[in-house]
Amino acid sequence: MSHAPAYSRLQIALHWLIALLILAAWVTHEAMEDAFETRLESGVLTPNPHAILGLAVFVLVLIRVFVRHRQGAPGPVPGSSAMAEAAALWGHRLLYLLMILTPIGGAITWFGGIEALGEGHELLGNALMIVALGHAVVAILHQLVLKDGTMTRMLRPRG
Ligand code: HEM
Ligand code: HEM
Repeated sequence: MSHAPAYSRLQIALHWLIALLILAAWVTHEAMEDAFETRLESGVLTPNPHAILGLAVFVLVLIRVFVRHRQGAPGPVPGSSAMAEAAALWGHRLLYLLMILTPIGGAITWFGGIEALGEGHELLGNALMIVALGHAVVAILHQLVLKDGTMTRMLRPRG
């Protein structure tokens, strides 16, 4: 497959917007736990920030996957080893998977009122945060230690 010269403006905007929304969804999870208890007791679904933020993540990730499929991604960072390339590929795939599964699990828990699924959703949400944190640390190390321009790929659009 031929590689795109860089990420597009749209891809970069989606990356940072989704990262912000995931952080916001994570920060609001405690209020959601209270709302979920009320929902289980009364059966009433009240709009709440955690669900809205999480659903926004889900919709934007679907758009992002579509755009990624159409526009591709830049090739391996010049000078990177085969192992680093594989780690980036599988790390990014894992992030996409968690970004899709976490809100789906949350939505089934919330709309279906299925208490038992809450724990699975919590596990996925926390895994997403941990993998994303590791991802951010690696990106910062690329920037400060390796100085190989990886961060620039997610800051400066092609063209
Ligand atoms: C990227 C998106 C999301 C992230 C990172 C996330 C993360 C979390 C986390 C960490 C918890 C804490 C669970 C606990 O401590 O018990 C939680 C709870 C919850 N989330 Fe999400 N969530 C996301 C999306 C959603 C969506 C879209 C919905 C519903 C439409 C949702 C519904 C819930 C519910 C109902 C709970 C409470 C579960 C319980 O108390 O057992 N979440 N979420
Ligand atoms: C919840 C937070 C985040 C998620 C879910 C996330 C997810 C992703 C994914 C899936 C990719 C691969 C893009 C693709 O090829 O389609 C990517 C790329 C990238 N991310 Fe993140 N990201 C997050 C936060 C961050 C943060 C905080 C930083 C920087 C400190 C960062 C820096 C980068 C960079 C530099 C790339 C480009 C890597 C390359 O060109 O190979 N990300 N991110």
